[in-house]
Amino acid sequence: MERDSLTREKVLVLDLGGHGSHLIARQVRQLQVYCEILPFMTSLERVLEAKPRGVILAGSPAERATSKQATGYVEALLDAGIPILAMGSGLQRLVRELGGTNEIVRADQGLTIYGTRFEAKTIDQPEAEAALQSFTGQVCGCQPTWTMDSFIEMSIQDIRAEVGGEPVVCGLSGGVDSTVAAALVHRAVGNQLTSIFVDHGFMRKHEVEEVTGIFRERFGDNFIAVDAHERFWARVKGVTDPEMKRKRIGAEFIRVFEEEAAKLGRIEYLIQGTLYPDVVESGAGEAGLVKSHHNVGGLPEDMSLKLLEPLRWLFKDEVREVAQKLGLPDELVWRQPFPGPGLAVRIIGEITPEKIEILQEADHILREEIKKAGLEREIWQYFAVLTDTKTVGVHEQQRTYGYMVGIRAVDSIDGMTASWVPLPYPVLESISHRIMQEVKVVNRVVYDISSKPPSTIEWE
Ligand code: XMP
Repeated sequence: MERDSLTREKVLVLDLGGHGSHLIARQVRQLQVYCEILPFMTSLERVLEAKPRGVILAGSPAERATSKQATGYVEALLDAGIPILAMGSGLQRLVRELGGTNEIVRADQGLTIYGTRFEAKTIDQPEAEAALQSFTGQVCGCQPTWTMDSFIEMSIQDIRAEVGGEPVVCGLSGGVDSTVAAALVHRAVGNQLTSIFVDHGFMRKHEVEEVTGIFRERFGDNFIAVDAHERFWARVKGVTDPEMKRKRIGAEFIRVFEEEAAKLGRIEYLIQGTLYPDVVESGAGEAGLVKSHHNVGGLPEDMSLKLLEPLRWLFKDEVREVAQKLGLPDELVWRQPFPGPGLAVRIIGEITPEKIEILQEADHILREEIKKAGLEREIWQYFAVLTDTKTVGVHEQQRTYGYMVGIRAVDSIDGMTASWVPLPYPVLESISHRIMQEVKVVNRVVYDISSKPPSTIEWE
């Protein structure tokens, strides 16, 4: 298979804003057609460079698409020979203005713009899927070649071609993303890969022992675990700004890697498990910066290792499929997502060793109770947050002044949007009761009922 044969037949989603574009992109990928997201009005030059077979306009506010400038832009795309599908009733005016049609079949004369009332919110309806299928298949002529088997095959070739005989290091966090990245690279270059797990001191209770056990078994002597918690704690001491925390932890992470890699002799490449949503959210392709994700933003400019990110085009559900195909154990494949900076972004305000321990205990109780209730696999992500608010309470008739813990449980498909989960009251009750009973310095537990957007999943 040629290097780019898998992604050559590509459709672009041009995002008008409003957070739904990734749902449409995912749906296109489910049709086994490769798809990328760029902001609406990305320079024509850049769009043409991507050689898309078709363009999908998605999102809101729709008025953006009917300004004179925007109409001219869409016309220019049509003139360049690219068929266009405008999703959502808000874009129908544009479709009419440009003489388009709602019947999605290949036009005999000239190219056109097609419209459909379906949009991100209704994209999982069978008719919506049929509309996308007609557009990508009949109109754009894309073959369903984007499968995870072919992705694995392509990646292995790409990695071999890029890396050659050079030594490679990989950062393992214990999450599914970095593990899959490592497993893929391991399959491609075998013992040229050394995997490094850095304990930054912001892991959950017992997590360090658990993940190092799994990795040692899989990677053997090519696995190194580094206890660097003192360094990381020193770097975030006194820091309260969330972005500053993320940047400092991200930068320190790379430094530790560089030092470990230096001990191994000359190393050219560092592998990271960056995913497509991280890439889009971190502002690649001109979309605004939401948070600097640990494994994308905040990297030191003088970094001496080259970054290799074999998963940077995948959505989370695609990564899980790859993980299964690579034969990774279920407990890793279905592990809930955990942010690179770990508990550091779940401790609001200044981080201290005491607060880390409080949060580890509270979070451990929460996880035990969720497991006991049989909800472990039902909920996409759940965790505790230590707020920087202290409140007044009462214990054995004595006034207390203790910490307030937040409980968060969300459902999501890829982390880009999420809805809060209504945990059953008895489960909430036992979580709150146990936390306040067992973690004495906590005297209040609150439940986070915010969805993303406008919230994010993590509090920082
Ligand atoms: P947010 O808070 O941005 O989180 O809504 C979306 C998903 O990403 C996880 N997350 C991260 N993952 N490095 C990661 O690898 C990071 O810096 C990071 N920050 C957030 C978060 O747990 C959620 O699943």
